[in-house]
Amino acid sequence: MQALSVLDHIGGQLGRLCEVLGMDPGDPAELLKDLLGPHGDRPLSKSPAWPSEVADDNSPVEFSVAWNQTEPPSLRILAEVIDAAPGVHANMASTYDFLDRQTARHGLRTDRLDAVRDLFGAACPDAAFALWCSLVFRSGRRPEFKVYFNPEAQGVHRSPGLVAEALTRLGLAASYRAMLDHAARPGELGRLDRLSFFALDLHDGPQSRVKLYVSHHDAQPRDAARAAAVVDEVHAAEVAEFCALAGRVGLFTGRPLVSSYTLTEGLARPTGYSVYVPIRGYVGDDREARERVLELMSRYDLDHDLLDRAIDAVARRPLEQGAGLIAHVALRLGRPRPGLTVYLSAEAYGVASPTHLAA
Ligand code: TRP
Repeated sequence: MQALSVLDHIGGQLGRLCEVLGMDPGDPAELLKDLLGPHGDRPLSKSPAWPSEVADDNSPVEFSVAWNQTEPPSLRILAEVIDAAPGVHANMASTYDFLDRQTARHGLRTDRLDAVRDLFGAACPDAAFALWCSLVFRSGRRPEFKVYFNPEAQGVHRSPGLVAEALTRLGLAASYRAMLDHAARPGELGRLDRLSFFALDLHDGPQSRVKLYVSHHDAQPRDAARAAAVVDEVHAAEVAEFCALAGRVGLFTGRPLVSSYTLTEGLARPTGYSVYVPIRGYVGDDREARERVLELMSRYDLDHDLLDRAIDAVARRPLEQGAGLIAHVALRLGRPRPGLTVYLSAEAYGVASPTHLAA
């Protein structure tokens, strides 16, 4: 019998997720094969070809399911394209090749990407990554694509300047300034508050977004609430409560809380806010993580039956035997679609042990 390959493992999870969500598995399967490239055929038993930070175990792919109140849940894949001879620049080049193939096929919108790619392209060879991408599948629609640049690819100290230049080129300088006033604690930009991802949607239309992510190290729920308050329609207290229920009430001393902002041309303030709680760092095991997510979903009146089916599609082990299958849980507020997103690790290369530490 042939050894199980990376594509067998991740492709199996993806196929089952599509089935659970009632989606045609054709496009997703084909795109995953293209994303994984030559690494898809590697046996799972070999160590990862590249230490991807997409996931804790270095899997180059992470799944997520996004619920909202008006449409069926969507399925997403975050991925790092890994070149045959892996490296920060080689992987970036392979990602652009992947995107070129998809542009030819799916007609991606690349003008904003073209406007800023030189800025983020000059990455240090020892950066964690330069460019990731993600795919979004909604029932009955064509796949959507996004890219994530690493603002710290040339070092932490250069990140505020790089992001400022990129957002100025995209006509978003005013809302960036408004955002920074709230997102970073005084004097902490580039210290405890770090610009972690710069994301662009590669499709057209009113819901095509520019997003900026800030990781808050050693923060508390109230710091996320403060970060959220710059966005109209967002209730800061709701953000704090979500962080406390998904993570903890006090200081997040391990993995950081993360904020993201949606920036829209012509508007002086960001229009959407999400908070990502690294739930895996604040539970003993995935059974506990599942219980917390179920509680949150019922608060938001979302279909939690699908949560268990999505977990079953991805998990290859009992939930109590590890911590990290449920990696993050996020609350999305404001435009375009408020809701909750659950991030599920592929665990292709490993499972983190349960901790059961007194939190
Ligand atoms: N694995 C990385 C982290 O945990 C990057 C990442 C993957 C991430 N999915 C995410 C970060 C969702 C924030 C939210 O930081």
